[in-house]
Amino acid sequence: MFNLQKVGAVLVAAGRGERMGNIDKIFAPLGKVSVLQHVATVLESSPYVDYITVVLRADNMARGQSLLHQNTITKLTAVCQGGVRRQDSVLIGLNALPPCQWVLIHDGARPLLSHNLIADGLEAAQDTGAATAAVPVTDTVKLADDHFYIKETLPRQHLWSIQTPQVFRFDIIKAGFMQALNDVTDDAALVEALGVSVKLYAGAYSNIKLTTPADVILAQTLWKQMED
Ligand code: CTP
Ligand code: MG
Repeated sequence: MFNLQKVGAVLVAAGRGERMGNIDKIFAPLGKVSVLQHVATVLESSPYVDYITVVLRADNMARGQSLLHQNTITKLTAVCQGGVRRQDSVLIGLNALPPCQWVLIHDGARPLLSHNLIADGLEAAQDTGAATAAVPVTDTVKLADDHFYIKETLPRQHLWSIQTPQVFRFDIIKAGFMQALNDVTDDAALVEALGVSVKLYAGAYSNIKLTTPADVILAQTLWKQMED
């Protein structure tokens, strides 16, 4: 289905990890390798991905590059220095890709990426040119005011936790960035602002984002179980 078209992947790993305290999450160990190496290897071994750009924080460049070198990521076309906001890092990574028709954007902090999540994302994006992995929200979600009093309980049936990968036709995500005015926490929001429908596809509850120290323990446990 994707044979005649090139797919680029942008792996954003240039955050400060403030909610993680002093652990550098992209270098956290997962089995014998770091989170960064692990997720880069999954992209490398996907038959659908042609090019990979990795975006790192300035002070992690040397260590990150050396780890990626150890794993021989042959599809690696650039290792770039990230920006202040996540969306700045994504744009830097996009601009560093060779010409490609599709782009898959993934958080370096989501180590349990699978080949299925990549393939399913590319397939789902064929519909409108934009798709994101998502799972149904499991907690009850409420809106509250500034004084912590509940205003409203949101009906759960239409609530989704959004993950990465997010997959876009290259021209659509570039247009989203050209028109970007606001701070956003994911790339789909830029495409939504263009009026393009973004398709949800089934993510995985195991596809967690390392945000707090507990997530590292959880990811290591999940990883061990997936290996056995
Ligand atoms: N990211 C990035 N550049 C930034 C900010 C974030 O590349 N300026 C990346 C992170 O490295 C991560 C992903 O975007 O892989 C999701 O961001 P988040 O979970 O918020 O990670 P951090 O920004 O590192 O963490 P925190 O917000 O706690 O500082
Ligand atoms: Mg952040």
